[in-house]
Amino acid sequence: MAYASDLSPSQKATPSDARDWQRMAERVKRDHATMRALLDDVERACRALEERRPESLVRFRQAAWTLYVAFDEHLATEEGYFAPILRTVDAWGELRVVNMIIEHNDQRRIILELVEKAESEGEDVAALIVQARELVASFRLDMESEETSIDGQGLFPSVVQDQEDG
Ligand SMILES: [Fe+2]
Ligand SMILES: [Fe+2]
Repeated sequence: MAYASDLSPSQKATPSDARDWQRMAERVKRDHATMRALLDDVERACRALEERRPESLVRFRQAAWTLYVAFDEHLATEEGYFAPILRTVDAWGELRVVNMIIEHNDQRRIILELVEKAESEGEDVAALIVQARELVASFRLDMESEETSIDGQGLFPSVVQDQEDG
């Protein structure tokens, strides 16, 4: 797995100064804390659905939609911060930006699919819960991976890895 931190120093992402990087890293981590709390809400809504508590589907729909709105904003923030850095990292910069946006659009689509499934009448609740829990697990992993890369002052590994894997 190739991380930007494996690149030579001259190829590493270099925001205009260390304080810029620090500010971006703190903002992303703060966002992630908010996203994790919203993912907790989705998990609680899953348990309420399992226990067939009153209004649990309404609660689930609210939790999924709130997650979508907040995550969409978080992804836009990351794109604003990291696209300019990715562009300058090497000759593949523009492709790295495209990869990041593709990955983010995939995340947007995955949450929207959950929202739509929750809205449809007569939905299979058991399948809805499985889908929601898969989403929660994969989004948590993705945020952990982003934070590991940020702490190494590299780029997001998936973005770099996609490029290395061809
Ligand atoms: Fe991201
Ligand atoms: Fe993120």
